[in-house]
Amino acid sequence: MSARIALPEPAALAEAAERLRAGELVAFPTETVYGLGANALDAVAVAKIYTAKGRPATNPLIVHVASVAQAKTLVKTWPALADELAAAHWPGPLTLVLERANHVPDSVTAGGPTVGIRIPSHPVALELLRLAGVPVAAPSANRSEEISPTRAQHVADSLGAFVDDLLILDGGACDVGIESTVLDVTCEPPRVLRPGMCLPPLAPLVTPSGSAKGDVARSPGQMLRHYAPKKPTLVLGFGEKYTQVEGDAWLTLPATPEAAAQALYVELRRLDSDPHVARIVLPVVPDSPEWDAIRDRLRRAATPRHE
Ligand code: TXA
Ligand code: MG
Repeated sequence: MSARIALPEPAALAEAAERLRAGELVAFPTETVYGLGANALDAVAVAKIYTAKGRPATNPLIVHVASVAQAKTLVKTWPALADELAAAHWPGPLTLVLERANHVPDSVTAGGPTVGIRIPSHPVALELLRLAGVPVAAPSANRSEEISPTRAQHVADSLGAFVDDLLILDGGACDVGIESTVLDVTCEPPRVLRPGMCLPPLAPLVTPSGSAKGDVARSPGQMLRHYAPKKPTLVLGFGEKYTQVEGDAWLTLPATPEAAAQALYVELRRLDSDPHVARIVLPVVPDSPEWDAIRDRLRRAATPRHE
């Protein structure tokens, strides 16, 4: 069991593409977080993702593609709304949930009737997808329930002991910093299943903020606890009373949602591995739609294990 971090030079990209075609796993950067990829049309390859992550089989995977034309090969129907959204937000941090085509393996969709698809905007991800020539199923490249990786080294730390000879393409720090927005467009109105930094200006849209617009729907496999540090955490403003204890450390975030998303997982990891920190106190963020995704991740980080 070991991992190799490689700069995305032509030889490494070609090797990664070849590995994907051969049914092996490859970790690669996206603009949101690093992904652990496998050929989405190869059920045996996809099964390796679940084993490496220790991921429950009930949790579907997002399929990454290089073009809208390739996305269309994975679905039964491609609604006009998908065209509009793809034109406006792809490549980018928006996953569209669509009716799956029959040849998409059950292991990708967790047996469900839909498939999540996106075109990532990170140039290394795009180049890899083009070279591989196959759609790539990729969850975040961390063990299940751990904090998503936003640096190549995070992937090595999390998965190095669980995959043999894992090739990790190093694309530097992820720009967005948290996972994509997952939007179900098989229903009317569309529903946000997981808030992210992409906020499609749709109306009506069921979003996680504001009771008038309804609650965030629960995506299959989206456990409440996720994205979580190992240490106890506490979010102020979610009904818990704060009494300071020794070893408490406050997570501080930059003032804009974009900068806060970029910093969130790095800061969580830093505090989680700091031996002087016994408990992480998470901040409350503004109650506005631009902060939905960050509020969601903070709430998940603060959910005790086994809840
Ligand atoms: O930004 C991202 O989306 C990253 C990068 C690597 O692209 N990927 C990622 O994958 O976050 P993962 O596996 O950690 O999260 C995928 C989540 C699932 O847990 C589920 O909540 C939702 O996306 N999802 C995927 N396919 C779905 C489907 N068919 N129906 C409903 N939700 C789905
Ligand atoms: Mg994940």
